[in-house]
Amino acid sequence: MAAALFLFGAVAVRAQNADQVARGEYLVRAGGCISCHTDHAGKGPQLAGGRALDTPFGIFYSPNLTPDRATGIGAWSDADFIQALKHGKRPDGALYFPVFPYPTYTRMTDADALAIKA
Ligand code: HEC
Repeated sequence: MAAALFLFGAVAVRAQNADQVARGEYLVRAGGCISCHTDHAGKGPQLAGGRALDTPFGIFYSPNLTPDRATGIGAWSDADFIQALKHGKRPDGALYFPVFPYPTYTRMTDADALAIKA
């Protein structure tokens, strides 16, 4: 009985994660994250950053959003991600330039933000 309950729990958790990832993928597409965070010219991997964004303040290169712990955001906590996406603050507290359109994402729910991270 305990084993059956454990198995059921594990399956339920996996289904919930799959739902979260599917919702996150939808929001990543709807939110325009891929277009800025992918180097289309160099045909870089999706969301690996490196796209040059020419602005009146100079050229910004979008950062890598992949789960790589060294070069991407794989080592970030959920709180780090929410703070960046909704409030425009780096994990060290410094501010991003608004070429990253975080003001557009400020009113997103934390659940949606974490689905995007997933
Ligand atoms: C208009 C282009 C643009 C769009 C759209 C965009 N970003 Fe960004 N994003 C940037 C730029 C440029 C930076 C770096 C800003 C800086 O260094 O001050 C950035 C920074 C970030 C960072 C911080 C990464 C780090 O290593 O510090 C995260 C996280 C992020 N974006 C997530 C997202 C997500 C999620 C979406 C979609 C919901 C998104 N961005 C949409 C351009 C964009």
